[in-house]
Amino acid sequence: MSKLKVAVLISGRGSNLQALIAACQTPDFPAEIAVVVSNNPEAGGLARAAEAGITAMICDHTYFKGDKEGFEDALASIIEQSGAGLVCLAGFMRILSPRFLNRFRDKVINIHPSLLPAYKGLDTHARVLAAGEKTHGCSVHVVTAGMDEGAVIAQKSVPVKAGDTEETLAARVLEQEHTLYPEVVADIAAGRIVIRQGRIERTDAVRHHGTVKIESPKTHEAAMDNHAHSHTTPAADAETVARAQAMWSAFTKATVVAGGAIVVVLILLAALVA
Ligand code: GRF
Repeated sequence: MSKLKVAVLISGRGSNLQALIAACQTPDFPAEIAVVVSNNPEAGGLARAAEAGITAMICDHTYFKGDKEGFEDALASIIEQSGAGLVCLAGFMRILSPRFLNRFRDKVINIHPSLLPAYKGLDTHARVLAAGEKTHGCSVHVVTAGMDEGAVIAQKSVPVKAGDTEETLAARVLEQEHTLYPEVVADIAAGRIVIRQGRIERTDAVRHHGTVKIESPKTHEAAMDNHAHSHTTPAADAETVARAQAMWSAFTKATVVAGGAIVVVLILLAALVA
């Protein structure tokens, strides 16, 4: 099966990019990085892409002197020419306009260092420490025009420990980011997660919380070709599914116990008659 092509947009050191590169280098991983684009010519992630032999492009917003549309058109052309069906923002520090996002509808995701919807925006670790939170984490979410506001696809949490500094907490969260992002990309590429009109549909109720789609798209072509599916399948929430499974399991156990009791009674009756 062909792999889902991914464009990764960066602005800085690119440790999440590195995690995606490593995942994509595993033979069975269902996605591959088609292009890395940085708006910052100094981004450390560019060297990581080059090292891995991945096409790396600079689309420097400062060249466009305030012409945001021009910048985004250039960015969009690079992405489209790469054939990418998914755009992963990985420390990309530009806000994308609704015009750009409509061009890549349901195809742009981001990783954010907080348990969204809490702590949108910058300096999340410092704010979490200042608020005395006990738990922190990271989220992968759909990118919409509102900053860090799109539907959350998946999250991982970490404890905030006594004596944590911004650096120690950031490092603990970052470690989780590096496993979470490749997992989500794999789920999307394999069709286990579908983004449709900004909402998340999942085929796997066990690993993630949220809606459960009964009919499973089998390929990333199906995952990416969201609008080709005109029908909708009723969705249930994970809690309902879990409750139904628990009821079925209790019913099965009760049936076995009752069946056993009937057998014992029959044996006793047979013994009495004999
Ligand atoms: C990460 O913390 C990510 O969650 C946020 O920006 C940071 C990027 O780090 N959006 P890196 O460039 O991937 O190392």
